[in-house]
Amino acid sequence: MTLNKKLRVAVLASGGGTNLQSIIDQSQEGILDAEICLVLSNNQDAGALKRAQQAGIETLCIDHRDFKTREQFDQTVVAALKKAGTELVVLAGFMRIISEIFLQAFPQKIINIHPALLPAFPGLHVQQKAIEYGAKFSGCTVHFVDAGVDTGPIIAQAIVPIFNDDNEEILAARILEQEHKIYPQAIQWIAEKRVKIEGRCVHIEDSKNVTAAFINPPIR
Ligand code: GAR
Repeated sequence: MTLNKKLRVAVLASGGGTNLQSIIDQSQEGILDAEICLVLSNNQDAGALKRAQQAGIETLCIDHRDFKTREQFDQTVVAALKKAGTELVVLAGFMRIISEIFLQAFPQKIINIHPALLPAFPGLHVQQKAIEYGAKFSGCTVHFVDAGVDTGPIIAQAIVPIFNDDNEEILAARILEQEHKIYPQAIQWIAEKRVKIEGRCVHIEDSKNVTAAFINPPIR
């Protein structure tokens, strides 16, 4: 479905920005009906800022170390997002906790991607934690942001196997490949207004059911 009006999306990123790149690419290919109105980072060296500049997208760096409190930082971020006309805030490797001020400014309009199958392994270094736990699968989760850490209603998940000889880097790369698929898709569902939140549960209108189940290691 191609929409007449594109969703104005601001992407917040602290790091390399491969998720941002997948959103830029899919927007340019016309698969994603989103216009990135701003890429904002708390880290002036973030690769995400360079990727945005290369794509001709407006960028802004607000360094959290310049603020006394999280709330003061968030107030400044919110003002910049509002000024850019943001309709959806997309956290893509944004390594800051979101305060109540930020949440109230964009109710149910902030989404995040997390490199694990929530509710397993919230927080940081989660690929390493999944390996050390001995999990046979991990994956990634797109979710709405609420007041907790990685606790908001889940929009979509993708799973990947964990192999015996995996290390953190290899598993992170396997998960990232799936992040680049499900994050732009989740944004597109929101742009199409197909995402309904009921309590903790999110339903995507007119989505198909998956039919496959996965076993790792495989039987026989
Ligand atoms: C991604 O793996 C994302 O899931 C993770 O940071 C990486 C950013 O990569 N986010 C978190 O861990 C949030 N708690 P990118 O900069 O290449 O998109």
